Amino acid sequence: MSICVTGGAGYIGAHIVRLLTRAGHEVIVVDDLSYGEAGRVGDAQLIQLDLADTAEIPRLQNALDGCTAVVHIAARKQVGESVERPAWYYQQNVGGMANLLLAMQGANVDRLVFSSSAAVYGQPPVERVPEDSTTKPINPYGESKLVGEWMVRDAARAWGLRGISLRYFNVAGAGWDDLGDPAVLNLIPMVLQDLYEDRPPAIFGDDYPTPDGTCVRDYVHVVDIATAHMAALGYLERDERPFDTFNIGTGFGSSVRQVIDTVGQVSGLAVNPVIQPRRPGDPAVLVGNVDRIEQVFEWKAQHDLLSIVDSAWRAWQAGPKRITLR
Ligand code: UFG
Repeated sequence: MSICVTGGAGYIGAHIVRLLTRAGHEVIVVDDLSYGEAGRVGDAQLIQLDLADTAEIPRLQNALDGCTAVVHIAARKQVGESVERPAWYYQQNVGGMANLLLAMQGANVDRLVFSSSAAVYGQPPVERVPEDSTTKPINPYGESKLVGEWMVRDAARAWGLRGISLRYFNVAGAGWDDLGDPAVLNLIPMVLQDLYEDRPPAIFGDDYPTPDGTCVRDYVHVVDIATAHMAALGYLERDERPFDTFNIGTGFGSSVRQVIDTVGQVSGLAVNPVIQPRRPGDPAVLVGNVDRIEQVFEWKAQHDLLSIVDSAWRAWQAGPKRITLR
């Protein structure tokens, strides 16, 4: 198959590109390189292009010509930034999706796997949230992902697109040491950055209604995310359903304290976190019910928290901010 991966030079995208290329697929990466790095795409063809720019639709359509499917990952993904710059988030994430769908229709490409997010659920009232839970995002980032899902569904109704939305839970780890998460925006990289700068890691609130008082999340290894995309592409090949949504997680929750303790365990460093005030907008618990994806795709996450943190630590140590062990 020939597959276009938007955002293929980014952290998650590069893992998917590597698996696809290794499986023998032809891969075309479309990326504006605002966060992505050209060196991460390997042998894939790289087309540098801003998806949100309507003037680029013809070039995008040209790039898609002859492709079997698109994996659409390119997006802005910082919750705080989305609260500060909502219009820009809509322009980037929703506008980018609109342009992509127009180009796909123009190029007769009718299979799409879309990177959505558990952020579409907001603060769910259940412990393990299934796909048919109410979607009530609490920030423009989550809203832009939900609108993206609606656009895929509507294109499926309108012109026969077959689309899958994959709602990622907390993605972390690295499949290869050269593909670690270069951004310091999420818990594990933030803890590693703190250790690099010789600061104690921060726990944002320890008075939540959870077993140890810290927030619980469903951490899923980036390689499991990548294999779920391979499974989704296989499903689109054999199933005629127009639109479907799946959680990608492990179904298990880990607390912030457990994650930080695991960093201490794998690094051998004394990690003494300090308690800081709650971060606004954090739900106490966000864990996926993953029954659907396990049944329909016959896919199951293979990595636990230890494996996630261990791989993130190894990739961090292979990078420029190696932590000196005393
Ligand atoms: N946290 C700390 N200390 C830190 C950093 C984070 O205590 O230094 C806490 C947060 O308060 C939160 C937990 O660690 O309770 C996880 O925080 P992240 O920022 O790593 O992740 P979020 O759960 O806020 O959000 C992530 C992605 C979103 C996605 C969501 C889905 O960033 O894009 O997971 O579950 F939508």
